[in-house]
Amino acid sequence: MKVAVIGGGTMGSGIAQVAATSGCQVKLFDLNNEALIKSKISLEKVLDRLIEKQKIDAAEKNRIQNNISYVNTLNDLSDSDLVIEAIVENLEVKRKVFSELETLVSENTILASNTSSLSITSIAASCQKPERVIGIHFFNPAPLMQLVEVVPAIQTSEEVLNKTVQTISDWKKVVAVAKDTPGFIVNRVARPFYSESLRILEEGFADMATIDWSLKEMGGFKMGPFELMDFIGHDVNYVVTETVFTAFYFDPRYKPSLTQKRLVEAGYLGRKSGRGFYDYNKELPKPIE
Ligand code: NAI
Repeated sequence: MKVAVIGGGTMGSGIAQVAATSGCQVKLFDLNNEALIKSKISLEKVLDRLIEKQKIDAAEKNRIQNNISYVNTLNDLSDSDLVIEAIVENLEVKRKVFSELETLVSENTILASNTSSLSITSIAASCQKPERVIGIHFFNPAPLMQLVEVVPAIQTSEEVLNKTVQTISDWKKVVAVAKDTPGFIVNRVARPFYSESLRILEEGFADMATIDWSLKEMGGFKMGPFELMDFIGHDVNYVVTETVFTAFYFDPRYKPSLTQKRLVEAGYLGRKSGRGFYDYNKELPKPIE
């Protein structure tokens, strides 16, 4: 199967790895050449770590790497069976990419978005053949997280839905088919996890390290909310909250946090920029036990 991934950032790189590991021929496209170089280097590191842990051997590393080519024009994606878009979380930008993409690929190509919160129906409406558009929402990091939400738009055909579920299952992921509502299942449930933690911080009842520690130690979460927001990236996480809030007609349950907005404005995007809630260049604060 020929798979194209648009956007070679955090998610696109991970999705390309998943598809390549399953034996697909993958083309990874990004407007920014540096992102492609970074993606290639980071894949090499990830695969080397898997070799160290004896999860794969050198031949497997070569096979996965050889299954991915890095391209810098949208035209290069024309022979794809499936295209997965993982670019910036902005509806207008995504709609523009989809409508351009549709003119380049064959009639039967499935066009998917990895959006966390935007309307798949609205993205599909930017295409002449909206029945081939679907949401395929991976979680971060895509190679490790088992769950994938598959989200049909109201225009998506049954055939495209079935083929997509089959493909993602063949990639050894667990599929949850979700309706096209803001944040789908997981990102909607996750909003109060972040926003209530932000409120506790803003109200001064506990510091971030203590909130993170409590949720991990007592709540059984793998990461605390502040660690997780830093990991996801505040640009992505904040926009998702804003989108869900707006899409639910400004329901106060989903109200975004000004504290997080300021981080975005400052460019403190989390781990990817070296600083978010935590400063990753310094020793991290300890919880108050
Ligand atoms: P990112 O910022 O790491 O990567 C986005 C990449 O897209 C960048 O390399 C950028 O150069 C490229 N790009 C932007 N516009 C483009 C265009 N028009 N054509 C080609 N490339 C373009 O973002 P990330 O975190 O990978 O998120 C991508 C998508 O995945 C978003 O829709 C986000 O909501 C979704 N997502 C993010 C998750 C996360 O934890 N970060 C989890 C699940 C979904």
